[in-house]
Amino acid sequence: MRQTAPARCFAALLLLALLAPLPALAQDPPPLLTPEQSEAAAARYQQYCALCHGPDRAGHANDHAPSLKSASLIATGTPVVIGEAIAYGRPGTPMGAYHVEMGGPLTRQEIRELAFWLLTMAPADPIPVADRVEGDIALGAGVYAQHCASCHGAQGEGGTGTALGNATMLALTPDGFLRYAIENGREGTPMVAFKDVLSPAQIDGVTAFLRSRSAGWEVPEPKRHTPPPLDAYVINPDAAAPSFTLTDGMYVSAAELDRELKARKRMVLLDTRVTSMWERAHIEGAVPGPYYASREEVMANLPTDGTWIVAYCECPRAAAESVVRRLREAGVQNTAVLWEGIQGWVSLGYPVVQGEAAKATR
Ligand code: HEC
Ligand code: HEC
Repeated sequence: MRQTAPARCFAALLLLALLAPLPALAQDPPPLLTPEQSEAAAARYQQYCALCHGPDRAGHANDHAPSLKSASLIATGTPVVIGEAIAYGRPGTPMGAYHVEMGGPLTRQEIRELAFWLLTMAPADPIPVADRVEGDIALGAGVYAQHCASCHGAQGEGGTGTALGNATMLALTPDGFLRYAIENGREGTPMVAFKDVLSPAQIDGVTAFLRSRSAGWEVPEPKRHTPPPLDAYVINPDAAAPSFTLTDGMYVSAAELDRELKARKRMVLLDTRVTSMWERAHIEGAVPGPYYASREEVMANLPTDGTWIVAYCECPRAAAESVVRRLREAGVQNTAVLWEGIQGWVSLGYPVVQGEAAKATR
């Protein structure tokens, strides 16, 4: 089903609102940032993004995060397309929403500066892309199954490649941006150029097929959740400690965590993802302790009496491990990382509680 015109229109309006004070949208070259803005954006990149996209923006440091410096992305990704991806994330993937209104840590201005900074760091002449691409959907479905599903997932759910069936991505990305990536690949990544493999009609077809899978997108309602007060950080504060057997001295399995939670043992569950993800859904009792917070900020909220602290993140361990390593360096005892991550936890059928923002569709 194609996304309805009003829905696309609404999304477009919302994006304009999000990036409203931009003097020029679309294909104009990005205005230069002041040196101070550029420095601040570079620092924010290292704090919030480098964990997955790599300190050098080459991608694939963790969680199959894409390159943010490939010429084809930079040439076709406008400040709006890049800014929207940062603001709204890709729900259901490790890419969270960073906009404060979505429960994330960054203001609109900070996101705008990050988007401009990414574009100016890897200069490429902007290439205008079409909003819509017409093509033979049935032909495209066959192409997808044969050439794309192995990396992008049979249902476009993602794998080593990005989630091409993601409703938020499809709503916020012009067809021509996708088509250009398929035709020219993403240099320096596993995404090869398909222009020598597929005919133009096949590339149009697979682009149209992706668009046809778009199920519409409801703009998630921006609603803040207040984290629990500090004295409520410990689950079952008067109970006994859990008995965990850690694999590699670090990991606890979902089955074991579930068992100890059901036995009502005393512990802290630390959700190390970007806070907007905690707001959408989290394991019951988990409190936010995002990977980008300083060790002091995270520790300020944690008991130091040997209470077990189990950290988890999306998919499956990068953010949680970085937090637990920092806690251990500071001498915090009894820490562990959930091996399966919350995606694994959910797919094994263990429960999560939905936040208000979780009502938004994927
Ligand atoms: C926990 C890992 C993680 C972190 C941290 C993270 N990202 Fe991502 N990001 C991803 C993944 C994974 C994707 C691809 C999602 C998908 O399947 O579509 C992605 C996608 C993107 C995209 C879309 C790129 C494209 O080719 O369409 C942009 C832009 C982006 N991230 C920017 C950022 C910025 C800027 C930050 C820091 C504010 C950030 N990300 C933090 C994992 C992460
Ligand atoms: C070998 C694995 C692999 C195959 C096969 C593959 N891709 Fe990709 N694709 C990737 C990876 C990895 C990325 C992310 C690259 C990056 O780091 O920017 C990607 C990125 C993309 C993007 C850009 C998404 C975005 O948000 O920027 C599109 C569109 C895409 N692929 C479409 C396709 C289509 C259509 C096919 C089949 C014709 C295909 N890919 C085949 C691995 C693959």
